[in-house]
Amino acid sequence: MTASSAPSKEPSVRRESPLPSRWRVLGTLLVTVGFLLFTFSDACGPPPKFEAMEMVGKQKPSYSPGDQVNYKCKQGWEHAYTFTTTTYCELNNSWLPITDWACEKLKCPKLPTIPHCREHLVNGTIAWGHQVHFVCDEGYYLVGRKFILCQLKGARTFWSHAVPRCEKILCSPPPKIKNGKYTFSDVDIFEYAESVTYSCDPSHEEDEFSLVGEKSLYCVANGVWSSSPPECRVVKCLYPELKNGRQITGFRKKYYYQATVMFECNLGYHVRGSDTVVCNSNSTWEPPIPTCVKGV
Ligand SMILES: *[C@@H]1O[C@H](CO)[C@@H](O)[C@H](O)[C@H]1NC(C)=O
Ligand SMILES: *[C@@H]1O[C@H](CO)[C@@H](O)[C@H](O)[C@H]1NC(C)=O
Ligand SMILES: *[C@@H]1O[C@H](CO)[C@@H](O)[C@H](O)[C@H]1NC(C)=O
Repeated sequence: MTASSAPSKEPSVRRESPLPSRWRVLGTLLVTVGFLLFTFSDACGPPPKFEAMEMVGKQKPSYSPGDQVNYKCKQGWEHAYTFTTTTYCELNNSWLPITDWACEKLKCPKLPTIPHCREHLVNGTIAWGHQVHFVCDEGYYLVGRKFILCQLKGARTFWSHAVPRCEKILCSPPPKIKNGKYTFSDVDIFEYAESVTYSCDPSHEEDEFSLVGEKSLYCVANGVWSSSPPECRVVKCLYPELKNGRQITGFRKKYYYQATVMFECNLGYHVRGSDTVVCNSNSTWEPPIPTCVKGV
């Protein structure tokens, strides 16, 4: 006060303003606006917004230091933890920082225990917006939805679909085949992973039957066997002959399915092709019988 109140330094007579009067009016106006801005900045901004909670009551046009705002959990959320839900405008014109951790999402009704089923909470909880995944134990299959979602409608939560169930995997007997049979042919119903093994009947003729395909079948899913059944039929390849060479392994009277033969060429010749051939299901040697060509 003392320094600024030295009147001796003030000019004794105020000079007239050099500006015309309308500029003076504008100047006054600017000063007024500046003052108003200053007044309003001496306040907190609008109260903070949260995902899980909303303010109680109506928002005021402005908040001064000391003003308090209370929050409550939004619809779909419930008060679950003791965190403060009240903030106030601090002296430096900022809101006391708070969180919405007091509110927790509403949960869906508890899931029943489903026999032979494992529930996996995809998002960790059964709150709305979260999914549950169901997996049956081995040997069981799912009837119904693999995933269900907890949903919110108004203030109510509910599951998007009924919970599924897990039923035992069963297989009817596998197909019967011509000229052959399988083990456990008197069983009416097979359980998961149970198997049957096929075999061919004796032919009572010149050539025996070969079993072509999978010998054993497993019940792998409800009503599903691991593969189609094999066939029993005569598979017979021509006697293996090699000009300028000879067979060295796999000697037999007859060459049925999967008979394997190895060859060698005579001295002065070499094998063109594969030296090992197998009798395939078409009664042909595979790869074809090689040839012996001159030279080493
Ligand atoms: C306002 O004051 C509070 C308490 O003194 C302090 O924690 C906060 O950081 C301040 N905020 C700002 C924006 O300066
Ligand atoms: C739940 O988890 C799934 C799969 O990870 C994801 O796609 C989905 O966005 C999650 N939902 C929420 C609400 O987090
Ligand atoms: C048997 O012959 C058929 C028709 O010629 C052919 O499509 C099939 O691939 C052959 N099978 C084998 C194992 O060579």
